[in-house]
Amino acid sequence: MKKITKAVIPAAGLGTRMLPIARTVPKEVLPIVDRPVMDYLVREAADSGITDILIITNRGKGAIEDYFDYSPEYEQKLIEKGKTKELEQLRELVQRVNVHFIRQKEPRGLGHAISCARAFTGDEAFCVLYGDDVVYSDVPVCRQMMDAYEKYGLAVAAVQPVTDEQIVKYCSLDVEHIEGREYHVKDMIEKPKPEEKFSNLSILGRVLLTADIYDILDNTAPGAGNEIQLTDAMKELARTKGMSAVEFIGKRYDMGSKMGFLEANIEYALRDPALGEDFRAYLKEKAATL
Ligand code: UTP
Repeated sequence: MKKITKAVIPAAGLGTRMLPIARTVPKEVLPIVDRPVMDYLVREAADSGITDILIITNRGKGAIEDYFDYSPEYEQKLIEKGKTKELEQLRELVQRVNVHFIRQKEPRGLGHAISCARAFTGDEAFCVLYGDDVVYSDVPVCRQMMDAYEKYGLAVAAVQPVTDEQIVKYCSLDVEHIEGREYHVKDMIEKPKPEEKFSNLSILGRVLLTADIYDILDNTAPGAGNEIQLTDAMKELARTKGMSAVEFIGKRYDMGSKMGFLEANIEYALRDPALGEDFRAYLKEKAATL
């Protein structure tokens, strides 16, 4: 089995849930404390052993490309001021991985975005990190999926249980327990009505796909929201080639929603070694007035 070295990050969605800011700042570069969402995603992939990342963008997402470029004006200033640690921090991530870009010409859905990665991944299996889902964990979620892939040789969905209110907006999985946190995927449905859901287990922003997905995507008709749904293609992949699921360990933040954005900023700030103590004191004081 070939080692997984590639990841794809779809970031070409319109982000309508984050309007009005999404009109001018892509949700994939919204900050969590002092780093954009995309930094957390690329870091997770790099920490998992990925060496090449394809980010799928579209019009108006230039800020994502700029973030992974060198920035001579800042670097020069830091050199002049002798701030070598800050200079290293600025460069460190882009030196660990190759970041590539391609444009999805029209936002026709997550499934369509993934099909834009075909030439990049070729016949290799690859990780997908949804551009608006950040996960805080000890072991990066991509690594948790790669471990399951190495064990079963099948595509992998990273899942967790969600609430009844959430499951109707996400996808619902029909699974059979294998062992520990691992499952065999039998079926799935995107945005089910309450009576249609299989379970409350949902995919939360991470999957590992085999190249079989591309031919399936080519034959996938638009589904929910008139978009080409990755869930519809993965359901076919699970039925024809097999797919496993791993209940990942970690806390996921939906950065495509306003609540997720606020929760992530508060919780990451509390964990921040430089800010955490002062921010906790502030929050306690504030909470006492609520
Ligand atoms: P979402 O469905 O959460 O993104 O897709 P969206 O369409 O931008 O969201 P709303 O509902 O309008 O707020 C998950 C990821 O897939 C990307 C998005 O950028 C996001 O990171 N995506 C979605 C694409 O790359 N292309 C698409 O056509 C749709």
